[in-house]
Amino acid sequence: MKWKIVIHGGAGNITPERIGDREGDYREALKACILEGVAVLKKGGSALEAVVSAVKALEDNPLFNAGRGSVPNEHGIVEMDAGVMDGRTLEAGAVTMVKHIRNPVLLALKVLQESEHVLLGGEGAEEFALQHGFELVDNRYFITEERWKQYVNKFLSKNKKVVEINSLGTVGAVAVDKDGNVAAATSTGGLLFKHSGRIGDTPLIGAGTYADNEGAAVSTTGLGEFFIRTATAFQINLLHKTGTSLQKAVQQTLQQVKKLGGTGGVIAVNSKGEHVIDCVSPGIFSAVAEPSLKKIDNEFSVETYLYALELRCSTSHT
Ligand code: GLY
Repeated sequence: MKWKIVIHGGAGNITPERIGDREGDYREALKACILEGVAVLKKGGSALEAVVSAVKALEDNPLFNAGRGSVPNEHGIVEMDAGVMDGRTLEAGAVTMVKHIRNPVLLALKVLQESEHVLLGGEGAEEFALQHGFELVDNRYFITEERWKQYVNKFLSKNKKVVEINSLGTVGAVAVDKDGNVAAATSTGGLLFKHSGRIGDTPLIGAGTYADNEGAAVSTTGLGEFFIRTATAFQINLLHKTGTSLQKAVQQTLQQVKKLGGTGGVIAVNSKGEHVIDCVSPGIFSAVAEPSLKKIDNEFSVETYLYALELRCSTSHT
């Protein structure tokens, strides 16, 4: 069985005009983050360990809206969500509205491993973090200069609409390991200027994150309200598990998101090593890594994708 890992760093109004000369930075960042997952899979580690490693790296990179680089809510405070799921056992862990956890994905993993519960929120989640040796960090750690400018612009602007295409950047990873086990992890700062206490799709198992060895591992990015309403991740898993190809399962579900007025994208992988990256937005920051076709020991390939058009042109995305 060959391993494979796919990551995303958000979907939205990603066009060559908007990205401009930052394109190289995004591609380099995506490569560096996926390599953290590759390192785990190459050593024979599990899909769960791999997706958590890749998402931790994405959280640490300020280009993406998760961990450091998260967008502030209406009060200028960062509130983050994360979820992880193991396709072997259907065990899941998630946290929501955390304000002082450097890597929410690590706390979500701890919930999966150590808690009787699946989803912990707010102060209770941070209490659980302290009980398990996590350090709490100041909320200002998460807010970069660029994010603060975006917040101030929104504050001053007449347009206070939160659910709009420009404010995206959730991160996620799905992987299959050498034993054919799949896993998914997703992490986000949510939406710029969101209502305090707003929870998106990311930590909701079945909406933004799902993994089942008999179906698929799925991570979403986009306007969470629409992914919650379509139970996107579970729906893709169920369609695939009951005979629809992974590509069609993703396409059909994303069309529902679009029909409701939503925007965003999905990454998915199954235990056979098939994967899909797709979006109903102009682009999705994403990357795929797998062992090289050249069959040279320890060689692997990494492809990065930014624009929807690039994905459609690629022959390797399914
Ligand atoms: N998809 C991330 C969010 O809406 O919070």
